[in-house]
Amino acid sequence: MRLRHKPWAREKIENYPQYVIPNPEQFRGNWSALFENNQPIHIEVGTGKGRFVTEMAKANPDINYIGIELQESVIVAALDRLIEAELPNVKLMNTNGEDLQKFFARADVERVYLNFSDPWPKNRHEKRRLTHESFLSLYEKILIKHGEIHFKTDNRGLFEYSLVSFSKYGLRLKYVSLDLHNSDFEGNIMTEYEEKFSSKGHPIYRCEVKY
Ligand SMILES: C[S@@+](CC[C@H](N)C(=O)[O-])C[C@H]1O[C@@H](n2cnc3c(N)ncnc32)[C@H](O)[C@@H]1O
Repeated sequence: MRLRHKPWAREKIENYPQYVIPNPEQFRGNWSALFENNQPIHIEVGTGKGRFVTEMAKANPDINYIGIELQESVIVAALDRLIEAELPNVKLMNTNGEDLQKFFARADVERVYLNFSDPWPKNRHEKRRLTHESFLSLYEKILIKHGEIHFKTDNRGLFEYSLVSFSKYGLRLKYVSLDLHNSDFEGNIMTEYEEKFSSKGHPIYRCEVKY
């Protein structure tokens, strides 16, 4: 993602602790204290500008959503969405997905969403792909038993790589589509990247896998 530096972003994030969780490690193993209920938690790693988590939270009030985004200058756009939507069941974390275990204990999370993750096409960057086996192992450590990953992308190379990575890890494939927008899948919520790439005619690949 090309970034415009926003020097004011940090201050804005700090001004909205009710939306961007300031010390997420304090809720490790006890997320019900933050959401004030025992609803399942679904996280999106690399949430970008936050349309997906916000719209999912609106559509599914019985699920708690957390959007995780590394870049301050991107997460502020997601923050604007949350301020406007005023939903009790969606929060943001301005952290690196590599650190998930600091914030979530085993079985804290029911589902991981990966949407249009950076493809890192060079072989030497393979470990940065969010579907690399090191990330699959990390997700396993925070997911419930038989937790799921739902993944979509327009990047065919990343999709092929990820299917192999899931399979080598022993995950079970529940659903796959090579053209999501022309499939029978219902209730799709478009992300910002999905809208951009599908409007250029790219097919969208989607799968659901289960541990
Ligand atoms: C290509 S964008 C997709 C954004 C959004 N999911 C969408 O579909 O519109 C990928 C996003 O993932 C974020 N990201 C990449 N690696 C990350 C990581 N390790 N932890 C948290 N966010 C990450 C990037 O900063 C970027 O905003």
